Amino acid sequence: MGPGYTVPAGWTVMLVTPATQLNPETFKDPVTFNPWRWQDLDKVTISKNFMPFGGGTRQCAGAEYSKLVLSAFLHTLVTKYSFTKLKREGTAREIPSTKMWTIGLAVVALVVVYYTHLIFKWRSPKIEGVLPPGSMGWPLIGETLQFIIPGKSLDLHPFVKKRMQKYGPIFKTSLVGRPIIVSTDYEMNKYILQHEGTLVELWYLDSFAKFFALEGETRVNAIGTVHKYLRSITLNHFGVESLKASLLPKIEDMLHTNLANWATQGPVDVKQVISVMVFNFTANKIFGYDAENSKEKLSENYTKILNSFISLPLNIPGTSFHKCMKDRENMLKMLKDTLMERLSDPSKRRGDFLDQAIDDMKTEKFLTEDFIPQLMFGILFASFESMSTTLTLTFKFLSENPRVVEELRVEHEAIVKKRENPNSGLTWEEYRSMTFTQMVVNETLRISNIPPGLFRKALKDFQVKGFTVPAGWTVMLVTPATQLNPQTFKDPVTFNPWRWQDLDQVTISKNFMPFGGGTRQCAGAEYSKLVLSTFLHILVTNYSFTKVRGGDVSRTPIISFGDGIHIKFTARA
Ligand code: HEM
Repeated sequence: MGPGYTVPAGWTVMLVTPATQLNPETFKDPVTFNPWRWQDLDKVTISKNFMPFGGGTRQCAGAEYSKLVLSAFLHTLVTKYSFTKLKREGTAREIPSTKMWTIGLAVVALVVVYYTHLIFKWRSPKIEGVLPPGSMGWPLIGETLQFIIPGKSLDLHPFVKKRMQKYGPIFKTSLVGRPIIVSTDYEMNKYILQHEGTLVELWYLDSFAKFFALEGETRVNAIGTVHKYLRSITLNHFGVESLKASLLPKIEDMLHTNLANWATQGPVDVKQVISVMVFNFTANKIFGYDAENSKEKLSENYTKILNSFISLPLNIPGTSFHKCMKDRENMLKMLKDTLMERLSDPSKRRGDFLDQAIDDMKTEKFLTEDFIPQLMFGILFASFESMSTTLTLTFKFLSENPRVVEELRVEHEAIVKKRENPNSGLTWEEYRSMTFTQMVVNETLRISNIPPGLFRKALKDFQVKGFTVPAGWTVMLVTPATQLNPQTFKDPVTFNPWRWQDLDQVTISKNFMPFGGGTRQCAGAEYSKLVLSTFLHILVTNYSFTKVRGGDVSRTPIISFGDGIHIKFTARA
């Protein structure tokens, strides 16, 4: 039999064997009781169409016994007795009301027993080994509602904080129908990240799987050729070599142009303008997107996609998720059109990310005309929200901490003063010399915690820290827990870049993982740190700025900015 359909792991398969037993093609008048029909049925037809006791290795072990009981019963019945079925007289009798009550109560009792059983089963999953403490919440929804209640500050989300206090650093829960083990423990997180591809693989919730086609041969969540390629092409265009060789002056130019533009306006909502800036620049580097001359404002489309992305993955007309999937399709279509244009007209080549993917089509079979747009879409997704949120938060921290701005200004004015030509651009050496700026960037990344955690799916049962992680369960590694741990970082939500002076390398590597870890560590980490530092350099040397309004943030659990952050920029004389 050919493969035809895919049966996904974990799905239930219901084999309706009665369908063949009541098939009129094989058993004429199938619901007529006619034992004589068996005289004419051959062995092959019977074995194909008659499976009252199931089949295969799980065939009923009581089949022979049942047949013997039935036959003995018939034997005794017909040799020793005659029998008649009595016709019931009259129509249905009225059921007295006390009887109705009794039946009603019995039904209610059955329903209660059924649901109690269901809740008990849900809350006490049967596994071999010991699960961490914690609650699985209600069947299907689990503890999703508690998880999405916004936390009103940048501190660790209350969902995690409360459970850590109640159950300890490792606990179980259930979110959007998935059983999850949450770890805020450094050693467990490290162990899991080191076993990517053997014990776990990347898995974000079901909406991500649908969104990024995390299934089939080209799924990037599995460790293998496709994942390796994703990393190498990203590092090729956004890694240290590329930053040094060509990207640094382009980043500087782009930041100069945008800041100069914002300074000509009244107060601007930095979340909004930074999102447009980050998107347009990254999209330009990936597929040559020219925002100024493009009819479509892609950054707006992308923001819309992201806003409705965090919703229930119900892909039916009318839902936000459906709208989001449609917008995603349009975006993928536009990316595919760009790819096709380049394929048909080599004069449009620019030596960018897309051109490399086109060249690699000759050697990498998985690089198809459908996969390349998905790859570009994924990189934009990985870079856009994280970068723009981090840069926006920088303004919150700086506007609340003028002493930090003063010290930054001292560092950057000293860099400019040292130059032979004060108008020359920023160099890699200058970037590497920015000691205080690195501390500001670290402190921003430490408190920001853009992803609430890293998600993985267990590929098999395994033991860690005395607990069992069952195959198929999701593991959520809450790296923010160590970054906001008051034992390591005193007053953890206070923005204090100076604290980095006193932290040693071991403490830092154990407690600070804004870009994840292991084989999946962020491929855009160096690029992001360079953009943040260059941004600070241009900002403090050329502009002064004041917060006019806004600045409230919440974790839902990803960061949102309520009313935005409205900043007035002024060029310095
Ligand atoms: C402040 C900005 C950023 C932060 C905080 C951030 C954070 C992260 C984290 C935590 C991961 C690991 C996810 C996991 O293990 O599940 C990751 C992966 C990744 N990031 Fe970033 N990121 C940022 C910017 C960027 C940018 C600008 C790019 C692209 C230019 C990028 C490209 C990627 C890619 C391709 C991966 C997947 C790596 C892999 O699977 O091997 N990121 N990022």
